Amino acid sequence: MRVLLADHTAAAVTPGTTIDEGGIDALYASDHRLVRLNFVTTLDGAANGPDGRSGTINSPADHRGFAAMRRAADVLLIGAGTARAEGYGPARTPMVVVSTRAELPESARGPGVVLATTRASGAVEGGATWICGQERVDLATVVARARETFGPHVLCEGGPTLASELVAADLVDELALSWTPQLIGGGRGTHPRILDGTDVEVDLTCRHLLEEDGTLLGLWRVER
Ligand SMILES: NC(=O)c1ccc[n+]([C@@H]2O[C@H](COP(=O)([O-])OP(=O)(O)OC[C@H]3O[C@@H](n4cnc5c(N)ncnc54)[C@H](OP(=O)(O)O)[C@@H]3O)[C@@H](O)[C@H]2O)c1
Repeated sequence: MRVLLADHTAAAVTPGTTIDEGGIDALYASDHRLVRLNFVTTLDGAANGPDGRSGTINSPADHRGFAAMRRAADVLLIGAGTARAEGYGPARTPMVVVSTRAELPESARGPGVVLATTRASGAVEGGATWICGQERVDLATVVARARETFGPHVLCEGGPTLASELVAADLVDELALSWTPQLIGGGRGTHPRILDGTDVEVDLTCRHLLEEDGTLLGLWRVER
């Protein structure tokens, strides 16, 4: 993976050099409080492919970044829509699924997976069920509980509805975004962008840019 740009606070890598898995891990490592969003899009900004999943728009290079971010994280945060669309299952890293419903999507049921839901869902607090709001899940509460239970580094893998709410609530510290060399076209209803819903206005500073086989992997810090 080729380093195009890296800031001073990142691992000791020099633009123009090639890095292996160890170098990629170092660029994504963080042991302090962090909410990082990770997405992949096509060059025209689609967050999913023709089959409605992100698996058809990612690439081996994107997967290397995705895996490094998972290794770095203490807990994954995902929306139930992504769990349903992508068939998310339990992972090595604990996972919190956000939903208004009383049950986890079927694929996500298993050890290490928590449902964060609402009182209105009828679910009961306890064990792997967290009640974090009345009609809508309060994301600040979920993030705080996820940190307290699993550790400081929260990795949100989407999707666009959850991500836009997290950004709007000023809970996101970093955005990791890969662009794969494809165009999908279509409309936003079928192919959402990475934030879909709430209006936001946020400035970002680039921490690094990497390239492999035409895929670009970027990491940005949210400016406050
Ligand atoms: N390109 C990428 O990197 C990437 C990453 C992830 C997803 N995607 C794509 O995004 C699409 C799915 O989009 P999406 O917007 O539906 O995904 P999403 O944000 O994962 O799911 C939305 C759902 O999450 C739950 N939710 C989110 N915020 C909530 C809150 N504050 N309180 C309660 N529930 C909340 C609700 O689930 P309930 O309906 O269960 O109440 C809501 O319907 C799929 O095509 C997927 O492939 C792409």
